[in-house]
Parts: sequence; structure tokens; C-alpha cells
Amino acid sequence: MSIANAKEIMIEAAKKGYAVGAFNVTDLIQFEAVIDAAVETKSPVIVQTSVKPSQFYGADVLVAIYRTLAQKAPVPVVLHLDHCTEIDYCKKCADAGYTNIMIDASKQPFEENIRQTKEVVDYCHSVGDISVEGELGTVSGVEDQIKVAEDEAQLANPQQSVEFVERTGVDIFAPAIGTAHGVYKTKNPKIDFDRLATINKMLNGGGIKTPLVVHGGTGLPEDYIKKLLAAGGAKFNVSTELKHTLIDTKYEYITAHRDEYDPGKIDKVVREATKKAVMHWMEMLESVGKA
Ligand code: 13P
Repeated sequence: MSIANAKEIMIEAAKKGYAVGAFNVTDLIQFEAVIDAAVETKSPVIVQTSVKPSQFYGADVLVAIYRTLAQKAPVPVVLHLDHCTEIDYCKKCADAGYTNIMIDASKQPFEENIRQTKEVVDYCHSVGDISVEGELGTVSGVEDQIKVAEDEAQLANPQQSVEFVERTGVDIFAPAIGTAHGVYKTKNPKIDFDRLATINKMLNGGGIKTPLVVHGGTGLPEDYIKKLLAAGGAKFNVSTELKHTLIDTKYEYITAHRDEYDPGKIDKVVREATKKAVMHWMEMLESVGKA
């Protein structure tokens, strides 16, 4: 049985200097591919759904798929709700069986972000073994329904980060450090590595209590990933890359086999391509063999 919540596997990762990959999926083929990659590389893994796919399929349907696949997998698997701005939907997914919930009130003023995040933390902790991710500062780009322009993005203040974590009781914390959702517009995005290291030291200097999340994984150069790992990143979110893999692989296959009408063959190539992409992330995050 490998149902897990994010906090435990991230603390383990942070202690040992690797990170857990967290991959946004939009369908069953991606779901299976992410778990297959984790099993094959013996890595812990976080499967994430944004709110839109979660509502499209239904939280209960996704949880049923999650439990079926995770229970067979000999590695820890988390089901995480990503960037949810609605408290009620966070609660609904916690009730349904998601094991990690992200309440994203980062666009709200500081006090309101704390109030909303704390409400979700209190609820999830009362319902069961469900960990909660909160965010401070804003990550630019588009994730699901949330759009933040680059010049609107605000980095997390280290002092406020400590206050936010203490007052909300969040289990894992995503400080904005300059990473962005989507494809980076430049080859060398401006990432504030020192800010992540400072926040990590202030929160976890005396022993890992609140592991840190890096959003905007797609397109980060490998040397940046290593620096973010060293600075305390214990969960890396990857979404856009898997969407591109899904659509490009389908498009290429259909274009090359225009007379074929066998959906199973398309699913197979998508699953293989997705698995390969995820396994590459596991290597970069150094989680291979850790589960
Ligand atoms: P990317 O789409 O840039 O990979 O970011 C994913 C993410 O941070 C999801 O929360």
C-alpha cells in the first residue's frame, strides 16, 4: 500500500538531499505513465491535478484511479490538488481522498492569505492524514485558471514566510522565488536562489519541519535545478512539459498514421513519451532508487 502524503516523503527527501517530482496530469494515460516512471526508477512521486481536470473528471473518480494505481505501486504516491483558490473545493477534495491540498491564496493580501490557508489546514488536519501546501508571493505565468503577469509577480519575503508558516500551520511551503509557470521566455530566467536558501535556513535550520516547493519546473536548466535542490527545494512541480509531450506526441503519431483508427496505439506512444520525460526528471532530482 503506497498511499502517502507529501509532507513525510518531502522531509525524507530534504534530509537526504534529493527532491520529489510532482507532475500535473490531465488524463489516465499521464496518470499511469507518471506512476510507471516512479516504479521503474524506485522514486517517491506526487501526482497532481489542477482544479479544471479535477472538476472535469470529478474528484471521486480521480481518487478511485489514484487508489487503484497507488495501492499496487511499491513506491509512495501522493495525490495533490494544485493551485486551488476555492476553500470549498479544497475541502471537497480532502473529503474525496486527495492526500495533499494546495490552497493558493497568494493573490490575496497577506492577512487574507493567512486566514484562508489556515482554514484549509485546520480542515484537512481534522479530516485525516492530509498535508497542505500554501504559497506566499506570486509565481508568474498561467496555471489552470490563475494568470499572473511577469511584472505582477512578487517574491516571498523571508520574514513574512516564517510568520506565514507559523500562523497557518502549513505542512509544506511554496515561496515565490522568480520561477514561472509555462515556458520561460529567456534561456537564463532570473531565479533568486539565495532567497530560497535563506527561507530554508530560517524555517528548517534546526531540523526539517516545513519542506519547500519549487513551482514552474518546465524549462529550468539542469544546473538551476541542482542549485535549487541545494538551496532546499524538496518538491519540483512540472506541468507544461507534460502537456507539450502529450499533445506533440499525439499530433506526430496521428500525422504519420493518418489512415489508422486505433486509439490504443496513440495512448501507448503517449504513455511511453510521458514516462521517459518523467524518468528524466527523477534523475535530475536525484530521487532514483530512494523509494
Ligand atoms: P510548469 O507548467 O512551468 O512546469 O509549472 C508547473 C507548476 O508549478 C504547477 O504548480
